[in-house]
Amino acid sequence: MTLMPVRALCAGSRGSLVRSLIYQFFAPVAIVAIGGALEALTGYWAFTLLGFVAGVVLAAVFAQRALARLAQLQLIASRQFAPGRAGQVVSWPRDNGDEIDEALHHAEAFVSSASARWAEESERVRHLSNVLDRMRDAVIQVDAHGVVTYGNLAAAKIFGGRNPAGRSFIRVVRDHQLDDLVRHALETGEDGQRTIALLGDSRVMNAIVVRINQFPREALVVLRDITELHRLQDIRREFVASVSHELQPPLGAIKVMAGTILDLQPDNAEVRQVIAAIDEEIDSMTAMVDDLLDISQLEKGSESLRYETVDPAELVDVAISRLRPRAGQAGINLTVAPADALAPIRADGKRLQHALINLVTNAIDHTPEGGRIEVGVTQAAAETTFTVADDGEGIAEADIDRIWERFFKSDRSRSEPGTGLGLAIVKHVALAHGGKIAVESKPGSGATFRISVPDGTRDAAPRVRQ
Ligand SMILES: Nc1ncnc2c1ncn2[C@@H]1O[C@H](COP(=O)(O)OP(=O)(O)OP(=O)(O)O)[C@@H](O)[C@H]1O
Ligand SMILES: [Mg+2]
Repeated sequence: MTLMPVRALCAGSRGSLVRSLIYQFFAPVAIVAIGGALEALTGYWAFTLLGFVAGVVLAAVFAQRALARLAQLQLIASRQFAPGRAGQVVSWPRDNGDEIDEALHHAEAFVSSASARWAEESERVRHLSNVLDRMRDAVIQVDAHGVVTYGNLAAAKIFGGRNPAGRSFIRVVRDHQLDDLVRHALETGEDGQRTIALLGDSRVMNAIVVRINQFPREALVVLRDITELHRLQDIRREFVASVSHELQPPLGAIKVMAGTILDLQPDNAEVRQVIAAIDEEIDSMTAMVDDLLDISQLEKGSESLRYETVDPAELVDVAISRLRPRAGQAGINLTVAPADALAPIRADGKRLQHALINLVTNAIDHTPEGGRIEVGVTQAAAETTFTVADDGEGIAEADIDRIWERFFKSDRSRSEPGTGLGLAIVKHVALAHGGKIAVESKPGSGATFRISVPDGTRDAAPRVRQ
């Protein structure tokens, strides 16, 4: 057997931990054996004693080194993973070149790259958090249990100076319909939007709800303070309402005066013609002023409505019987779609009637002779829907989102009578009831308009600004 130099034995063999352990075990045993062999050869027992003492000392040195290594590893591990040290790499001495060193080397490389990623991510999170805190809009993140998991600085300011994180969303916003929108977004992924008035505060907020994660489900609510916009819209509404209101008496007076002139010159054909034209213009101006006043009222939301119990089928019948002569004159077949028995609803009957008449009038105006118009009403899911479908000229794709705007008329309708306020009234009637509007149309294939209103007496409509 080859004798190994003591330094090599003490240092352990480079490269192989197993080999080194074998040496460290066999070297003391070999020294004891050599002592014994020398005694056998020479007869001196001192060799055995010397071999034994040397073996024990060597074994003790190896054991101490192994324990020291373990203690070193423990120290490094405890330093590396100590709380608060994330992101800092602790380097350790590498002097044995065995498998432990190799493992430590890999661990160091791993920790170092993880630390770099961690530092990068931390920087990104810090940056994002800074950006969100500088926003004037409140940003709130809600988890699947309806608990707020994040709120930026603006959210804390809006909701009593306390960050909403950790509290239930409904307790923070105190608006059940907004809470419903968040739940709906979490379940279906559909975005939502709502205008809310903050409790105990005069501020009005526009809330936009989006689902940002599906696993785990999380929704983001962005609240924008629209108090100023709201105030300006109030001023505009009041202005339009006052002007319209002020215009009504003089228009009425001009109409009466025109009638008086006609009475004074009953036989003058020229005067009769001019007065008829004045009369027509005054009628259309009065209609426009009435419509503008109506929209201003409807913009106040449900408070402008006179709720009563209404039979939806009767609303349709009245609209049809009023417009059947006009449809007949235009050579259009106006029919009512067959309906199941309908329950009465709580709504402003006069306004709904007006909206329905506007839709049917439009359908007559935009359907050529020989065309068909069908008016129907259905009830489902606590909602009553009125439908007016024609097979007329249809609406161009570019116009379809604009037809609800005040004074909008498509290019081809511009030469025709009408102010372009009819559909704006339809929209505001539906919204004031807490309902909705829809249109489907393709140019040349007719148009289908729908107004849906909730059945109950619930006051679903916040003040609407569109
Ligand atoms: N059924 C329809 N088919 C095709 N186009 C339509 C239909 N209904 C409305 N439109 C288009 O939408 C525009 C706006 O309609 P709206 O009822 O608001 O105004 P109007 O009918 O032109 O005037 P008003 O109703 O004030 O007398 C119309 O000018 C027309 O271009
Ligand atoms: Mg119209």
